[in-house]
Amino acid sequence: MTAVKREDALLESIGSTESLIVSYEELEEAARKKLTSGAFGYIRSGAGREETLQKNTLSFSKYSVVPRFLNDVSILDTRVKLFGKTYPYPILLAPVGMLKLADEQADIAAAKAAAKYGIPFIQSTVSSYSIEEIARETGNSPKWFQLYWSNHEEISLNMVRRAEEAGYEAIVLTVDTVMLGWREEDLRNRFSPLKLGYGKANYETDSAFLSTLSDHQHDTIIQGILDNIFHPHLTWKQVSKLKQHTNLPILLKGILHPDDALLAIEHGVDGIIVSNHGGRQLDGVIASVDALPAIIDAVDGRVPILFDSGIRRGSDIVKALALGASAVLIGRPFVYSLAVGGQRGVELLLERLIQETNVSISLAGAASIEELHRLQIVYHR
Ligand code: FNR
Repeated sequence: MTAVKREDALLESIGSTESLIVSYEELEEAARKKLTSGAFGYIRSGAGREETLQKNTLSFSKYSVVPRFLNDVSILDTRVKLFGKTYPYPILLAPVGMLKLADEQADIAAAKAAAKYGIPFIQSTVSSYSIEEIARETGNSPKWFQLYWSNHEEISLNMVRRAEEAGYEAIVLTVDTVMLGWREEDLRNRFSPLKLGYGKANYETDSAFLSTLSDHQHDTIIQGILDNIFHPHLTWKQVSKLKQHTNLPILLKGILHPDDALLAIEHGVDGIIVSNHGGRQLDGVIASVDALPAIIDAVDGRVPILFDSGIRRGSDIVKALALGASAVLIGRPFVYSLAVGGQRGVELLLERLIQETNVSISLAGAASIEELHRLQIVYHR
């Protein structure tokens, strides 16, 4: 439990010569200057005309917090318990592939920054370093593994086994990527980081994957990844299979309909991540925050509901938690921070985000996440 740090404490916790980026907009601009147009476009953009990408952030302003006062908020408890583990903050780093686009140390740098705050790092299937490399570099800090189902089922099950052996704490099965979204920015830039090999680390170290190939040349590996990564045949059958195969908790990422959330529970899923992949898959889908209330209602506390897509600041986190989410995942803000300042860049982002969240929870009149869940939120069009 921590006494709430104020904004002047943020200045104390960073070096006097370190440049402080305060808002998301400034961060995005700094990343734009640092990255090639292909890499920046890949990270920033959404699918189609980017309607959903925009709605993800704009929709937060339709929800207003109704604060309570005269509640002692001098000590704040931001701990969350998920699947028997307690984490200090209701924040996780979202799975993001191909992080070498942003920084040479990529996943290792981001995972080390998250470890400093006890924040779980969710490693993507298409990470730039392998499960074993990241585990070796980061010891026993909390890590989860995100799975893209492979067309050869044994590759998926082998990757899950590797994550389990490396001490990862949960499996996140992403369900909204049966094929790649229609990404106009990448078409314009003719940019495919997957084809350039930024996301091959887990595949080229996977015995089940390698055994499906005729040789282990670079081009054969890349083609093998492309043949496996999109999985239009994925159904609840594979979810049940995955459940039988591992003792780790399983979360489904990308759920937007309450009935899918209920089906997930029927199939033994342990948690749900309400997400539209940061507006990168089907353009025109519901903003993630607009999907959250109905799913919270339908699930009624049976499994934890996590949330991502559009979180840009602490006050967004307060809204998502007040609507009932147990924790949130951060995507682009940490990728930009990695591009701008490597591991230290991500640490500075987390420091600022945590402190803003702490101040926001306290100003809303809550002293814990449980109290925040009881806060009233009003909706207006
Ligand atoms: C992603 N996301 C993602 N999700 C996933 O399950 N596996 C992955 O490999 C990736 N890769 C990826 C790359 C990049 C560059 C971005 C921006 C996003 C989606 C990610 O986990 C998360 O859902 C969104 O980023 C959340 O939205 P915000 O926070 O970026 O608005």
